[in-house]
Amino acid sequence: MAGKIPAQFIDELITRVDIVDLINGRVALKKAGKEYQACCPFHDEKTPSFTVSRDKQFYHCFGCGAHGTAIGFLMEYDNMGFVEAVEELARQQGVEVPREGGHAQGPDHRPLHQMLERATIYYREQLRGHPQAPRAIDYLRQRGLSGEIAREFGIGFAPPGWDNLIRALGGSREQINLLTTAGMLSRRDEQEGRPYDRFRDRIMFPIRNHRGDVIAFGGRILGDGKPKYLNSPETPVFHKGRELYGLYEARKALRDIERLLVVEGYMDVVALAQYGVRHSVATLGTATTAEHLEKLYRTTREVVFCFDGDRAGRAAARKALDTAIPQMRDGREARFMFLPEGEDPDSYVRHHGGERFEQLAARATPLSDFLFQCLSEEIDMDSLGGLARLGEEAKPQLDRLPEGLFKEMMYQRLSQMIGVSSTQLKATPPPAPRPRALRRAPGKGFLGTIPPVRRAIALLLSNPRLALREDLPVAWQRLDLPGITLLTELLELLKAQPNLTTAAVLERWRERPEGRHLQKLAGMLLDLPGEGLAVEFEETLRSLTGRDLDLELEQLLEKSRTISLTDTEKAQLKQLLETKSRRATPHDPMEKT
Ligand code: UTP
Ligand code: MN
Repeated sequence: MAGKIPAQFIDELITRVDIVDLINGRVALKKAGKEYQACCPFHDEKTPSFTVSRDKQFYHCFGCGAHGTAIGFLMEYDNMGFVEAVEELARQQGVEVPREGGHAQGPDHRPLHQMLERATIYYREQLRGHPQAPRAIDYLRQRGLSGEIAREFGIGFAPPGWDNLIRALGGSREQINLLTTAGMLSRRDEQEGRPYDRFRDRIMFPIRNHRGDVIAFGGRILGDGKPKYLNSPETPVFHKGRELYGLYEARKALRDIERLLVVEGYMDVVALAQYGVRHSVATLGTATTAEHLEKLYRTTREVVFCFDGDRAGRAAARKALDTAIPQMRDGREARFMFLPEGEDPDSYVRHHGGERFEQLAARATPLSDFLFQCLSEEIDMDSLGGLARLGEEAKPQLDRLPEGLFKEMMYQRLSQMIGVSSTQLKATPPPAPRPRALRRAPGKGFLGTIPPVRRAIALLLSNPRLALREDLPVAWQRLDLPGITLLTELLELLKAQPNLTTAAVLERWRERPEGRHLQKLAGMLLDLPGEGLAVEFEETLRSLTGRDLDLELEQLLEKSRTISLTDTEKAQLKQLLETKSRRATPHDPMEKT
């Protein structure tokens, strides 16, 4: 694996590229004030809400909430991976993408990948030439696979015997070590004992990562026997909760991937491909994880989970539903399909063909229907009590949906089902203001409605040079509030590199969980002027400590009513009271405007 791309290079690249030119090459933009607009390429609309800012090098759609940097745009619009997008932009700028040396930035996995690639080639050669190969070929034939599909998926044969792979690839101690780290060898006990081939007398399915590197294998026994499938263990390059069998092959075979099907097994993926259904992937003997879904939605907007029609299938579907709910950002779709009892995708497609399978997939149950189906199972929908129970059980699930139009619609639907207004259903915190409304009343007035830590972050993001102001308040840094660490880190970064654009800052946070919040804030506040917000920024920081002082004061006063204060606490209280009386302005001057 190549080393990491240095953050500094990304900064420079993002500064050089012009997002307006980049997007304009794909979606015709019209100038509107300081910004550029078009009908959003990520959802259907008649009036333009897709906005691109040259200042901030950032795009945002006020309709569907899509947003991002130049890199993000290529990832979304051209379906590229991160590295691919960086390489594309670098190519346009005529520069090389540098890589950090393997060591400082985590180990260099290239030797591992090379070894696994050699193993793949070895197994494929055995499928062609080993004296026992006819058994394997017969098995594959009997399962309906052509040589062409076997080649495409790199399917091979691990011959019977304990040391075929070792003898072929493990000439030196170093190579034995690599084979061991790659998960290709076993030992009687962990450290001691002679290593031997892990995979023996099995059909070998190489598992590839998004770049096409082989990272692991699944090995199927020929015929009956246990274990039916043997998989590589977790290794430095293979984490099965993250990888999907067949994703690389699907992306290679198809240009646009309208939807991806998630099935259970290697053979399902390969058999579907054999019948022309090229867009399926399999989890590797685990349930679908959130990481899997993130990966899938980077390639497509619709995921169809495919299950057997039996009880186990239903249970697995509920589990997938549970994982999918928090992932249902606007623009993403999930559906659930159930095969007739006793069939798996492999058998179904062999009995009924690819077209019938696709028809079934196209009629899969949308997540919304499936969720309400699951919730209303065992509930008597004809009684008031039953309706109330549905409301109670549905609300916590709906609350797990990301904010957005879909969530609103689900609340509406629940409200219709049980006859209680959706406002009443939500009762607790009020819904977030709709992005469209923000567009009409941008700037300061709206700023006041955002809690101060987020407001400070947003102001810094839209105007990074604010970090250079001298005498910025500092007392807030010791507060223990959510977001303070992020704000501090952002401020430090921008003090050191005040010329970073909003987009460059966002790229710095791409891999981190807070990155999504930053992107969202940047999108909401696209309309903020890049200048003249210095006072707001300082006041926001000051208001943070203002609140803190009040809180401390309150706590000390409360304590003094029940037990006596220590001398230090008394001194503190005195000081707090003095500070408060000196402060003439309200805590949050923003609230006045
Ligand atoms: P299944 O038992 O459903 O097998 O396992 P299958 O895909 O239908 O296989 P065929 O058609 O008999 O060849 C589904 C998946 O669960 C994992 C594998 O990833 C398999 O593809 N599995 C299953 C194992 O890891 N080990 C096993 O022993 C069995
Ligand atoms: Mn099967």
